[in-house]
Amino acid sequence: MSKLFDCIINKKHSFIPVWFMRQAGRYLPEFREIRKENQNFIKLCLNSDLVTDITLQPMNRFDLDAAIIFSDILMIPYGLGQRVEFKKGFGPELGDLDLEKTNSIEPKDFINRLSPVYEGMRKVKEKIKNKTLVGFIGAPWTLLVYMLNKKSPKKDFDINKINKNKILTEKIIEKIVESACLHADKQIEAGADVIQIFDSWAGLLPEKELVNYCYTPTLKIVEHIKKSKIPVICFPRGIKKNYFNFCEMVRPDCINIDYEIDPRWIKEKINGIAIQGGLDPKILLTDKKNIKKNIEKYLKIFSDVPYIFNLGHGILPETKPEMIEYAIKVLREYKK
Ligand code: CP3
Repeated sequence: MSKLFDCIINKKHSFIPVWFMRQAGRYLPEFREIRKENQNFIKLCLNSDLVTDITLQPMNRFDLDAAIIFSDILMIPYGLGQRVEFKKGFGPELGDLDLEKTNSIEPKDFINRLSPVYEGMRKVKEKIKNKTLVGFIGAPWTLLVYMLNKKSPKKDFDINKINKNKILTEKIIEKIVESACLHADKQIEAGADVIQIFDSWAGLLPEKELVNYCYTPTLKIVEHIKKSKIPVICFPRGIKKNYFNFCEMVRPDCINIDYEIDPRWIKEKINGIAIQGGLDPKILLTDKKNIKKNIEKYLKIFSDVPYIFNLGHGILPETKPEMIEYAIKVLREYKK
């Protein structure tokens, strides 16, 4: 049985599994090497041999309990026929959303466009045997933001643009939910043991809009995935104290906390849901003493509940790989 399954579903807390968001990525020289030769990021995500190699890169280096498939949340808009590109130093850039075209994409077309993703997962699964394979999708709200804003909302985001045409927005969300369920199903079929839902921009929502744009559409996907008996991890980044309402309404099997969440507070507030993550990825840019102190803080607080060690957001590109190795060593040597 996989270590993550044991923790999330069987609520075992004698062993703390570990993996890292963005564990396959730019902080690894061997990833940068492949990336240099493959300028088109979407094409790279659709090359099942390279997807396999990149996914396994951190597994070959470190003592991790899970592999996360090398892909991107924006593969869903791509599968729906929207243009998606990644520009150096700028991030993702999407084409105009043509709702008529998007709505006319049939499930079989969507699956066809993304079939190398599933093929890559099959190949990885064959190679990691007793380790967990994590599949993932973007949450409807975060995908909606990228599909309408056409770039990262980091600098200039205006909720009114999205609220302007509610009927249109609802139609897009409906299509995203349907595609996300399909994408999750195909990943499960290809061997995913767990699915993580990334709502990276949930924190942009005003509190009164959380139910409508975050909880309700996410709940639909969570309920769908639960039918397959595959555990779901949710990551509604940046919603602060609303993490509690999120858990009450959506009931994921596991909740990934960001680094603004007080670990003691969440431990007290939620019941029966495994916890993952929390450590600020910036801590890994400091020295070993500080890394150890901060990791042990999380390990101590979560010592008597099911906890998966991970970060409060992805590994930063400037992280030294030796610090990932050190973080795992601290965890493995920790005595409860
Ligand atoms: O190791 C893993 O975690 C698996 C791979 C993974 C990638 N993206 C690869 C990637 C995962 C899980 C994602 C999820 C993702 N993608 C999210 C949710 C998590 C989060 O970070 O909040 C989001 C918002 C995206 C969208 C996205 N993709 C952005 C904003 C960017 C550009 C900014 C950046 O960090 O580079 C990407 C590109 C991307 N996705 C890279 C990687 C390794 C970098 C590509 C490069 O080499 O330039």
